[in-house]
Amino acid sequence: MSTTEIPALTEAELKLLQALVYQECGMHFDDRRTPFLQDRLLRRLKECQLDSFYSYYRLLISQQGKQELSRLLENLTVNETSFFRNKAQLDLFQKDVLDDVLRRKQERRDYSLRIWSAGCSTGQEPYTIAMQVADAMSYYYLRNPLPFESPVPKPMVPAPWRVEILASDINYSVLRAAQEGSYSEHQMAGVDYGYRLRYFDKMGDRYAVKKNVKELVHFDFHNLKTEYLPQRNDIIFCRNVMMYFDEAEQKRLVEKFYRCLNPLGYMFVGHAESLLGLTDRFQMVHRNSGTAYQRIEAKA
Ligand SMILES: C[S@@+](CC[C@H](N)C(=O)[O-])C[C@H]1O[C@@H](n2cnc3c(N)ncnc32)[C@H](O)[C@@H]1O
Repeated sequence: MSTTEIPALTEAELKLLQALVYQECGMHFDDRRTPFLQDRLLRRLKECQLDSFYSYYRLLISQQGKQELSRLLENLTVNETSFFRNKAQLDLFQKDVLDDVLRRKQERRDYSLRIWSAGCSTGQEPYTIAMQVADAMSYYYLRNPLPFESPVPKPMVPAPWRVEILASDINYSVLRAAQEGSYSEHQMAGVDYGYRLRYFDKMGDRYAVKKNVKELVHFDFHNLKTEYLPQRNDIIFCRNVMMYFDEAEQKRLVEKFYRCLNPLGYMFVGHAESLLGLTDRFQMVHRNSGTAYQRIEAKA
């Protein structure tokens, strides 16, 4: 069937499809983003060789349409990302936030650090975090030596620490690329030579993340719309994800993030995002143009 034979999307069909997408993943398509939604729906509908938006909707809500539904959601996500995105915020993370978290944990002899990159796209964010954690830990132990010898050569993370960076997304194809960890010169734009030399292997015209960095990061599928999200995190990064949700969904998500964090844990959101007006359970930490939010604990 040719494009011309497909009847135009009606207002009622648009509403049904918008509601379905919102219910499945929290993404909200306002008037400004409706043309994008319409374009992606038409592409998928043609791919499935269907003749109307309503029959496509029927497919999506059917048992056999599960795979097509996740394919549609993949087509609707915006996956733009980069290494060292929002440098001022990452400085705050590396210098102040990590220092505070490591110091408090070391006092309790808890040597585990768990960071979650929620909506990690093709992996630049969690790999940036891994490189920054490795550097911060080496520097931390220059100033606060552990009371025992470290093996030679030095591991990425000094014993007895265990670092786990969980990186998740709703889009399987970006997760596959992230797991692969191979980047073009263009994608490496934000990575300076020190980092390239220490943490990447040059493979032809691409840069592959070194094995010891990859070992710190674990990729998994998680839909932020669901209630079952990774718990006991010290720090959560959810940057440039909530901006695609409406306010009600953002509020629900922030509440879930609160529960997914350890006491006094931190959260980072995107440059154009804020927790102000969404919650009063976090306090803002702001230094040198970098912003983070720390969990507020109820007084005992
Ligand atoms: C613009 S990218 C941001 C990547 C990275 N956090 C950064 O700031 O560079 C947004 C990512 O959020 C993911 N995403 C959107 N909705 C999601 C949901 N409901 N659950 C999990 N991930 C979602 C998208 O697939 C996409 O990879």
